[in-house]
Amino acid sequence: MSTWRIRPAERRDIGDILVIENQQFPEPWSRAMLLDEITNTENRRYSVAEERGIIIGYLGLMFVLKDEMHINSIGTRPGHESRGVASSLLDEAWAEVRARGVARATLEVAVSNTRAVELYYRYGFAPVGVRKNYYQKTHEDALILWADIPALDAGAPTNQLDTP
Ligand SMILES: CC(C)(COP(=O)(O)OP(=O)(O)OC[C@H]1O[C@@H](n2cnc3c(N)ncnc32)[C@H](O)[C@@H]1OP(=O)(O)O)[C@@H](O)C(=O)NCCC(=O)NCCS
Repeated sequence: MSTWRIRPAERRDIGDILVIENQQFPEPWSRAMLLDEITNTENRRYSVAEERGIIIGYLGLMFVLKDEMHINSIGTRPGHESRGVASSLLDEAWAEVRARGVARATLEVAVSNTRAVELYYRYGFAPVGVRKNYYQKTHEDALILWADIPALDAGAPTNQLDTP
């Protein structure tokens, strides 16, 4: 059982999220950008994993169309990787976005970020293309990934278990 809880991100989390951003990303977001993102509840959804008062991971989604979303960011606090933090954030978000009718998700990830790519593959993402020179600092290419998100109970057989 996990020792952290997932909850919506709040302003007071920004300091901890910045720690993750600064240590995990070559082009970290600024405090102002994060504040904008977290407080935009219209088409953003930011969640955090909190363990004993410390934010050990966060996930940011952007709803692009009624049934489409973009994963803006996911990060686990250094020292807390491989504990299932990122997976738990995705599991929690997936349950809600499916209920909300989101059918497809997309994101960009650096081609060398095999760890993140493997995580995304487990959630049904597959590569559809490459954005050349996507990252300004590293000049690295980004893989464009897409995933179909199955609707809740789509096509599920209803009374099979009733059959003797
Ligand atoms: C990529 C990142 C978010 C992963 O976070 P994490 O919390 O360590 O991820 P998780 O623990 O949930 O999952 C990864 C591990 O669990 C394993 N795992 C979890 N669920 C699994 C499952 N159902 N089946 C198989 N393996 C599973 C993975 O194989 C992996 O194992 P490993 O750590 O031994 O390689 C983290 O490394 C990070 O912050 N990286 C820097 C930021 C970044 O690159 N973000 C993505 C940008 S697009």
